[in-house]
Amino acid sequence: MVYTRQNQSTLTTAQKKRFVSAVLAVKRSGQYDDFVRMHVEFYIGDGDGGHPVAHMAPTFLPWHRRFLLEFERALQNVDPGVSVPYWDWTVDRSPHSSIWGEGFLGGNGRRSDKRVMTGPFAYDSGNWNINEAVTEGEFLTREFGRPRDPMNLPTKDELEWAMRDSLYDSAPWNSTSSRGFRNKLEGWTSGVGNARFRNHNRVHRWIGGHMLGAASVNDPVFWLHHSFIDLLWDRWQRRHPQSTAFLPARKASGTGSVVAGDQPMPPWDVKPRSLIGHGDLYRYT
Ligand code: CU
Ligand code: CU
Repeated sequence: MVYTRQNQSTLTTAQKKRFVSAVLAVKRSGQYDDFVRMHVEFYIGDGDGGHPVAHMAPTFLPWHRRFLLEFERALQNVDPGVSVPYWDWTVDRSPHSSIWGEGFLGGNGRRSDKRVMTGPFAYDSGNWNINEAVTEGEFLTREFGRPRDPMNLPTKDELEWAMRDSLYDSAPWNSTSSRGFRNKLEGWTSGVGNARFRNHNRVHRWIGGHMLGAASVNDPVFWLHHSFIDLLWDRWQRRHPQSTAFLPARKASGTGSVVAGDQPMPPWDVKPRSLIGHGDLYRYT
């Protein structure tokens, strides 16, 4: 059965409640922290001498698609009627949007220590202790808009800049690729300060706190953000039907340690090209 992923702004109170309950159950089972650990393990980017696969690489999109599917399966083991909603941050862009409501993801962190104080993932709820990559404390942190160096969420125009590029990715296939939808959507640029971060990256920066680093999965908004990124890959494919949906298509000289479309992508050993479509699993509404 094909299930749907909904825009979070259209969820009913009951649907939000079911999603939150499933997330909390996965957390209680210890499995949630496995997802945090896995993301930390694959956080390495270029320049670290590692094997970039999840970020700063063409596989940014298929890697996170598979990662979301694994998480969604964990949720569905708890409640088969739940899926990962998506957050369109070009529309719901206020710190007071309903996504940050008491009955859903909770709000901003408080000023003194960025600790989230409202909603089901607030430390005081007793259900959400940070156990992986603990830096400041066991509480979830957010700092909307970086008050010290203010920034906004990406705009429709900024997203359009990525969407209109008809090439999926280009050499050197990392965070310095100047052409290609993947790097423009992932959001690395040669700018300085806030201008360095566009689209996907800018959303992580705008939320702040745990969303800033390798352990960003600690904040459940991670999944809603990446669900929208996943949808955007679909939208891009529909807009550029003549373009190859994933590049490099195969291993070739000059692609270095980059995982090509026909090579196994760790840790699942699935080929990126097998993750180009998902119509038999889920659809976006
Ligand atoms: Cu990631
Ligand atoms: Cu991300």
